[in-house]
Amino acid sequence: MSVIGIDTKVLSTSTADIAVAADILCGGGLVAFPTETVYGLGADATNGAAVARIFEAKCRPAFNPLIAHITGIEAARALCDIPDAAERLATAFWPGALTLVLQKRDGTGISPLVTAGGSYLAVRAPDGNVAAALLQAVGCPVAAPSANLSGRISPTTADHVLAGLNGRIDAVINGGICPVGIESTIVGFDGAPRLLRAGGLPVEAIEACLGARLERGPDSDAPVAPGQLESHYAPGAKVRLNAAEARDNEFLIGFGDVKGDATLSKSGDLVEAAARLFDLLHQADATGRPVAIAPVPVTGLGLAINDRLKRAAAPRS
Ligand code: TXA
Ligand code: MG
Repeated sequence: MSVIGIDTKVLSTSTADIAVAADILCGGGLVAFPTETVYGLGADATNGAAVARIFEAKCRPAFNPLIAHITGIEAARALCDIPDAAERLATAFWPGALTLVLQKRDGTGISPLVTAGGSYLAVRAPDGNVAAALLQAVGCPVAAPSANLSGRISPTTADHVLAGLNGRIDAVINGGICPVGIESTIVGFDGAPRLLRAGGLPVEAIEACLGARLERGPDSDAPVAPGQLESHYAPGAKVRLNAAEARDNEFLIGFGDVKGDATLSKSGDLVEAAARLFDLLHQADATGRPVAIAPVPVTGLGLAINDRLKRAAAPRS
């Protein structure tokens, strides 16, 4: 990995520092910022050169489209056509851990790099005061993937961001720990609403709001958002799933009855487990030991947790 050698500022969540962050973004720079899901690496979505720097900083394959972060449904209306079902979901769950992939309007000024040249745009209004204040101050959509090197674990603290991107981005806003801890759920609208990625908003809540089941990919365990590489969210060491106990020198991540060296949730709470998932993968990774992970049920947030775990354990390309 090449080091770009930028002096990365660590900003606080004060109004003055958010104004500094907004100036950097408006000037074409890159700022990592906290959302309720994970830290995002932001750039002005209407500035092609700034968006290109995201791919450079993350070493990310350029064919992978990005989510445009916006202040809410009014901002979405200016960018996309919003079918009724999408309107209902946005009204119910924004700001929140839900990304909608919608037909983009003409003349939005959004850089084609954000949609990877396609005609559908992913939009999300993130929850949390810092993200909201930043978006308000910037005044335009902010393209932001998770603020990690491509293929590595998503960051849920500013330290995680710096571990991967220090020297490669202009600033990070230190807003503490992300409360949801797992990326947003993505629903596509190129026909009937379709689950493209399980995430921080449980599929059951979305289906209850729509009064209908979401379409899935051919294999319901395999979300179909483009660029979802098989090996992703990966620690450096080998990862073994559904482990009831540690073998050899493994660092065991527990859940419920499986105690482990550290646990996702002692009481078997999936919300707590989602919030702790990436931090524990980072912790396990830092030990340099192979990693084993206890079984986690596939209901509610467990769908997203199992999706990330499967990718963490997939053979590396
Ligand atoms: O919670 C989140 O979603 C976080 C925070 C920062 O908002 N962001 C995030 O971004 O996870 P990223 O880039 O790591 O993942 C975005 C996913 C990718 O799998 C991408 O392929 C998909 O969204 N995506 C983006 N635009 C799309 C589009 N136009 N059509 C289909 N999938 C899209
Ligand atoms: Mg990511």
